[in-house]
Amino acid sequence: MDLVLLEKALLALFGAVTLDVFVSKLKGKKFRLPPGPFPVPIFGNWLQVGDDLNHRNLTALAKRFGDILLLRMGQRNLVVVSSPELAREVLHTQGVEFGSRTRNVVFDIFTGKGQDMVFTVYGEHWRKMRRIMTVPFFTNKVVQQYRFGWEDEAARVVDDVRRNPKAATEGIVIRRRLQLMMYNNLYRIMFDRRFESEEDPLFIKLRQLNGERSRLAQSFEYNYGDFIPTSAPFSGATSRSAKRKLSTTKPMDNNGLRCAIDHILDAEKKGEINEDNVLYIVENINVAAIETTLWSIEWGIAELVNHPEVQRKLREELDRVLGPGVQITEPDTHKLPYLQAVVKETLRLRMAIPLLVPHMNLHDAKLGGYDIPAESTILVNAWWLANNPTQWKNPEEFRPERFLEEEAKVEANGNDFRYIPFGVGRRSCPGIILALPILGITLGRLVQNFELLPPPSMDKLDTTEKGGQFSLHILKHYTIVAKPRVF
Ligand code: HEM
Repeated sequence: MDLVLLEKALLALFGAVTLDVFVSKLKGKKFRLPPGPFPVPIFGNWLQVGDDLNHRNLTALAKRFGDILLLRMGQRNLVVVSSPELAREVLHTQGVEFGSRTRNVVFDIFTGKGQDMVFTVYGEHWRKMRRIMTVPFFTNKVVQQYRFGWEDEAARVVDDVRRNPKAATEGIVIRRRLQLMMYNNLYRIMFDRRFESEEDPLFIKLRQLNGERSRLAQSFEYNYGDFIPTSAPFSGATSRSAKRKLSTTKPMDNNGLRCAIDHILDAEKKGEINEDNVLYIVENINVAAIETTLWSIEWGIAELVNHPEVQRKLREELDRVLGPGVQITEPDTHKLPYLQAVVKETLRLRMAIPLLVPHMNLHDAKLGGYDIPAESTILVNAWWLANNPTQWKNPEEFRPERFLEEEAKVEANGNDFRYIPFGVGRRSCPGIILALPILGITLGRLVQNFELLPPPSMDKLDTTEKGGQFSLHILKHYTIVAKPRVF
């Protein structure tokens, strides 16, 4: 028998036994489970819903089964929540009960089974890590210290694009340059270091490592162990290769400056955390901060190119409030309501983490009148909350004006449960304080300095989505023409 067949046979056997045990346990307890498609033995709903648990597929299921539904993915219960009321229950009212995380095989490797902050269960360790990370990363003081760095990085992007003769004619894939900028925005905070160019060997290595990790983490090929835990040992090869790759991300030396890593190493010296935790903090920033913000910038540019009237209005606001050619800085972003509305509308329609980071209940719980067995994965379909036509006017339209008109009171910080691109409550995104100004500065500088257009021969950019369990990004990294403005 070939190895793959043997693996499948063993997998089925293990699955059958464990599912039997599991089902009899549930029956014994007389659980009232949420509705959902009828599960088949061993695989549950896995074969019906497929490998693609993206926000649109889960929205289609919510339309059939309701605002709370249950999928059995092999052995794992997956609860999908699709109303603002239930989101409030999960993230706020019962925030402690549902404040843990599930991990898959890949994240187990990259976090030492939850020795990090993003993927650890709710409890003392998480509290300590969040406290230790707050001072060096997530305060207004950090923003005021590093905003000059972000402004400088954005200015360098503008210079490079201006200098590139292709930019104004056949066009460029601007994402590549913006990726370098985002790494630098965060590596300045972490290490007071920046990468000189896209060719920097360490930058290339890091990009590869991060790309590989997110590919592995989202790939079902490697993560069936997530749903049928008894098969996890089969993923050993993956674990080893991922671990080998991780070892290349060692914190760099610093110049004795008070950058984030100094604070983190200080906490290690005081015995609050160990060396592994330090590494996992660096790892968390790589996972959570860089690509998420980059995807949002990439979406923002695409929408501005495809909606020239919005782009024009934004440019007019920048010219009027700041004066033509006066380069936008972080304090200016607060004086530019249309820019803020463009950022919010981008995060609404093209939500970078559309299902939030999966939550989990450590113990049996109740939600919406149903029983939720311990250790269920809870996905909040935040994208659907912000794109449901019963809650929003023409949600499929990219219309920043909504945030100045009928939705003027809605902020990105979760003051309205229909709009939670950064989550809300205990496990919400602490990086919002950095992400919003970086988005404002970057989009602002580009629109001030260039007219952003589709490449010759196209009248619109292709905005086909690539949705996954953890992300919503653009399928094709587009080429745009950036025509320099003359002041
Ligand atoms: C546009 C950019 C970003 C978006 C849309 C975003 C969104 C999110 C979301 C939806 C969550 C999960 C919330 C939940 O599970 O309830 C999250 C968690 C997190 N984000 Fe962000 N994020 C962004 C940028 C950043 C940045 C720049 C950083 C760090 C510098 C960051 C650090 C984190 C961390 C550490 C967590 C885990 C919090 C925890 O588990 O306690 N994020 N983010």
